[in-house]
Amino acid sequence: MRYWLETYGCQMNKAESEALAIELEAAGWTQGGDSTDADLVVLNTCSVRRTAEERLEGRLGHYRHEKERRRFTLAVVGCMSERLKDEFRARFPEIDLVVGTFQKGRFLDALGETLRSHRPLTFADGGEYRFAPLHSRGEFKAFLPVMHGCNNFCSYCIVPYVRGPEVSRPPEEIVRELDELQRRGVREVTLLGQNVNSYAYLNNGTRLDFPGLLDIVADRMSGTGWIRFLTSHPKDCSRALIERLAGTRAFCRHIHLPVQHGSDRILDLMNRGYTRGDYLKLVRDIKNTVSGATITTDILIGFPTETEKDFQDTLDLMREAEFDDAYTYYYNPREGTKACALGDTVSREEKLRRLREIIDLHRDVKRKRQFDRLGRTERVLVEGVSKKNPGELLGRTEHDEMAVFTGPPDAIGTFATVRLRNLQGATFRAEPVQ
Ligand code: SAM
Ligand code: SF4
Ligand code: F3S
Repeated sequence: MRYWLETYGCQMNKAESEALAIELEAAGWTQGGDSTDADLVVLNTCSVRRTAEERLEGRLGHYRHEKERRRFTLAVVGCMSERLKDEFRARFPEIDLVVGTFQKGRFLDALGETLRSHRPLTFADGGEYRFAPLHSRGEFKAFLPVMHGCNNFCSYCIVPYVRGPEVSRPPEEIVRELDELQRRGVREVTLLGQNVNSYAYLNNGTRLDFPGLLDIVADRMSGTGWIRFLTSHPKDCSRALIERLAGTRAFCRHIHLPVQHGSDRILDLMNRGYTRGDYLKLVRDIKNTVSGATITTDILIGFPTETEKDFQDTLDLMREAEFDDAYTYYYNPREGTKACALGDTVSREEKLRRLREIIDLHRDVKRKRQFDRLGRTERVLVEGVSKKNPGELLGRTEHDEMAVFTGPPDAIGTFATVRLRNLQGATFRAEPVQ
C-alpha cells in the first residue's frame, strides 16, 4: 500500500509530517513517487493566511477530479482540519478523513476506523497535544519540537485557536529524541516551537527555562553538529538566551525574531507585548553581544487602521535594524481573531503597494549586509549539488544563507569551510578552504 503526503505551512507541520511518515512506514505503508498511484493521500494543512487555505482548496479540486478516475483515501490533517472540523467535509465531500491538531498522533487509528467503516469521519475535537517520539527519517538535518501551542493571542493570528495553549515537552523526551537523531548521523538540529523561547518545563517545583534547555542540548550535541531554534518571540528573548548564543559554539549565530511592525500604535493593537524601542534595543543587545550575529524577521503590513505614517515607521525600523532577511506578508483577516472585528481597512491595492516598498527596501539592506561579509571564512553544512553545475556543491552557512563552491557530491551532509568570494543574486559564490 502506497501513501503520498503533502505538507503546507510552517516547520512544525513539516516535523509532524515526518513523524506521520515514520508511523505510516512502521505500519507497512511505502511512500509513492507521486500521488497518481497512491492508495492514501494525506494533506497536512495550514490556516495562517487565506492564501494558504486557497492553495489547499486548489489541491482538493485536483484530487476531486482524480477521484472520478480511481479509488483512494483522501485525508486532511492539521490546522485547517482543526479550524473547520466537520465543515471541511461538508464543503469538500471528496475528503474521507479529517484529523485535527490534537489527533495527529492517533492518525493510524483514525485511518483504520475510516477504512473499516467505509464512511467518512472527523477527528478534530481538541484534547491534549501529544509529541511524537521521532520527527526525522534520518536526513542530516532534523526538526525537534520542544514546545507546542501559543498563549500570546496576537490579534491577527489564528495559531492559538488551531494549536491550543503552550505545552513544553519533558526534557528527558527531548534528550531521547536528540540521542536517536545523533545515532542516525544528524548534523543539524532545529529546536521548534511556535514561541520556542517561552519553553518552560516544571518538574517537582523546579523550572527548566529555554536557556537551561539549550545548555542540556548543547552538552549532548558536543562537537557533532550545530543547533538552531525557531521561532523566538521578542518579548521572551532574555539576556541569558543572548549569552548562550554568544558563548556556545554549537549554536548557529542566527536568530529569527519576528517584529511584525514598526509602529507602537499598531504593535499595541496587534497585542505583541513590546514597543518599537524595546525591539530595537534587543537588536542592539544581540549585535553587541553575539559577534557576527544575523537577525531575520517577519513583517506584517496592512493591519486594520494602518496609516501611511505607521507604514513609514515600519520602513524606518527596517533601516535601523538592518535585517539579514525578512519574510513579508500582507494582512489577511482570520475569522474568530480579535483583529477581524476591526475590519479590513487597507485596500488590497494599497497593501500590495506597501508590500512592494517593504520588499524593495529589504532587498537593498540585505544586499548591503551580504556585501559586508564578502571575504569572510564560514563553516557551511553541505546540503546538495548545484542544479546549474553538478561539479558544484550547495552549502548553508550558520546564518541561513546559501553558498556555492566546488567539491565532490559525497560531501553532502558534512561540514565544509569556505571563503565567501562574491554574490550571485542572494547566493554567495565561495571557495573551499583547507
Ligand atoms: N510565532 C511567530 C511569531 O510570534 O512571530 C509567528 C508564527 S506565524 C505562523 C508566521 C507569520 O505569519 C507571522 O509572523 C506573521 O507575520 C504571519 N501571519 C500571521 N497571521 C497572519 C495574518 N492574519 N495575515 C497575514 N500574515 C499573518
Ligand atoms: Fe501567532 Fe503571535 Fe502566537 Fe506567533 S506569537 S503564533 S504570531 S499568536
Ligand atoms: Fe500554519 Fe498551523 Fe503552522 S496555521 S503556520 S501550519 S501552526
